[in-house]
Amino acid sequence: MANSELLNKFKDNISDIKNRDAKNKLKVGIIGTGWIAEYHLIAYKNMPDVEVVAGADLIEGKAKKFFEDNGVEGVRCYLSHKEMLDHEELDAVSVCTYNATHAECSIYALKKGVNVLLEKPMCVTLDEALEIMKAEKESKKVLSIGFQPRFDENMKMIKRIVESGELGEVYYIQTGGGRRRGIPTPFGTSFIEKETAGIGALGDIGCYSLDMVLNAIGYPKPLTVSGYKSNFFGTSKEYSNKPEYADIFGVDDFAAAFVRLEGGIVLDFRIAWAMHPDTTGDTIIFGKKGALRIPSTECWNGSVGGAMTLYHDVAGQQTETKIPVLETKDDLFDLKIRSFLDAIIDKTCAPVPTSQILYNQAIIDGISKSSELGKEIEIEIPVI
Ligand SMILES: NC(=O)c1ccc[n+]([C@@H]2O[C@H](COP(=O)([O-])OP(=O)(O)OC[C@H]3O[C@@H](n4cnc5c(N)ncnc54)[C@H](O)[C@@H]3O)[C@@H](O)[C@H]2O)c1
Repeated sequence: MANSELLNKFKDNISDIKNRDAKNKLKVGIIGTGWIAEYHLIAYKNMPDVEVVAGADLIEGKAKKFFEDNGVEGVRCYLSHKEMLDHEELDAVSVCTYNATHAECSIYALKKGVNVLLEKPMCVTLDEALEIMKAEKESKKVLSIGFQPRFDENMKMIKRIVESGELGEVYYIQTGGGRRRGIPTPFGTSFIEKETAGIGALGDIGCYSLDMVLNAIGYPKPLTVSGYKSNFFGTSKEYSNKPEYADIFGVDDFAAAFVRLEGGIVLDFRIAWAMHPDTTGDTIIFGKKGALRIPSTECWNGSVGGAMTLYHDVAGQQTETKIPVLETKDDLFDLKIRSFLDAIIDKTCAPVPTSQILYNQAIIDGISKSSELGKEIEIEIPVI
């Protein structure tokens, strides 16, 4: 379903949803009750056809406290995804765990016949992504990846501009983003430890930049990658925003890559959790008829950094057209959750399908491998 159709559907169908049989509410569980789980819970609470009945977290008492703090009563709490899924009859789960357990939680849920909304990044490695897709295929359930920027009006505009033909054939893209100091450690170290995060800036915000441009151009298959990653800031007591974490920092805080995509398109990518400059540069999509400049953002608010510029020739005159920033009226998490629920109810495809995000993950995986080998590599994606 096109995103615009989806948005209209969301706006129109709130009253329809209210009329659905209250006894047939979708039973939802939340796996991992940390930072992002709260956004899921708030959005589920806004959906009249959903009941959050269960939650799980590895940390004793964390799930119970989470639901209490959010004023949700009667939720059964467990100490792991397995325990919860073994004891509950659920229609859907949100997997809100740190990256390293995305794959095992999703696969276990799919094997139990439960639909999955999986937080981004899809997982840590390409192999895990393939295992998730295999389980998804066998289960015939919906698995959607939690890229809420997909529902932002500006993101949709980027895709519309490319699809309208204004740029002509796209041949080169530079994209990425970053922060001068922005290593995420708001509630602990799950983003920076190898065992929990697996990947750093690459997976946390790199996946957003990749999705913004790859979704716009129809997710062509990645073919080769020459990647680089480093961790100078995270491992430095001088520059780390929390010096006490420097010794346990085990992931990348900066990455760059040159990626060849099917269709002769090249992608020049860089992402930073921390760096000395204030930007890694704007995103620019180069086409044979025009180009689109998208002002850089810190890559965590799900939108663009300002008005976009379309560069094109009009009657032989080099011209610049400003595309004003568009407002997204609904909350992005509400739209993300609603689109997932509607896919389950209407038995349609996942709004953010694994068939696309597999390529996003393959690029991230390729950057890591290429960086470790110190040379360009071919990206091999087995058909499953
Ligand atoms: N979409 C967004 O805007 C957005 C924003 C922030 C984080 N995220 C993503 O959400 C995920 C979680 O991030 P967070 O900041 O909430 O992390 P967090 O560390 O605050 O919470 C994760 C929780 O999962 C629990 N957990 C891990 N494995 C588990 C398992 N097998 N069973 C039950 N509980 C388990 C941990 O104990 C922890 O409490 C990450 O992958 C992150 O990339 C998405």
